[in-house]
Amino acid sequence: MPRRARREIASARRLRQFMRGQQWSEEFPYHWRADDLVTRRDTLRFLVAGSGALFVATSALAAVGSLRSTTGEHLVAVAREGEIAENEWRVFNFPDEYAQGIVVNLPGKGLVAYSDVCTHLSCAVLYQPGDRKFHCPCHEGFFDAYSGDVLAGPPTRPLPLIELRIQNGVVYAVREVER
Ligand code: FES
Repeated sequence: MPRRARREIASARRLRQFMRGQQWSEEFPYHWRADDLVTRRDTLRFLVAGSGALFVATSALAAVGSLRSTTGEHLVAVAREGEIAENEWRVFNFPDEYAQGIVVNLPGKGLVAYSDVCTHLSCAVLYQPGDRKFHCPCHEGFFDAYSGDVLAGPPTRPLPLIELRIQNGVVYAVREVER
């Protein structure tokens, strides 16, 4: 018998053996249908558990967020009343030593404060007294000092406003206002 025919016969025998499931039943002791059922059930369990976990996490974050917005007052002293001259500015730590705010005594408006973290990629902004803008030197972003709104550059969101309160002659930063 030619060699090619012998190879074809052997291969057909192997295929028949495979189709009878002898190899699979030895390596995987589960029936194919049962295996499929287990996989679907596991997938369903995973989806239900995943959805539940996401729901719980989202609810927890929403609860923490609403708690912070009502009680997130810090009262950090920024300056004495009248200490910052018109069109002058200073930076201060707020709400802790890891973040900073910038307060400006704006002509015609008085004291305003914002987070000094650029809303593009978090560089610190600087006040430009000449044109009353905040300038971010990293990518030439500009914000209006009177509103905190974006004037130019890559940032798309305004600077977060920091609420100020004057108490017994001291200017305090109170909390960051989401916008
Ligand atoms: S970080 Fe401010 S413009 Fe990019």
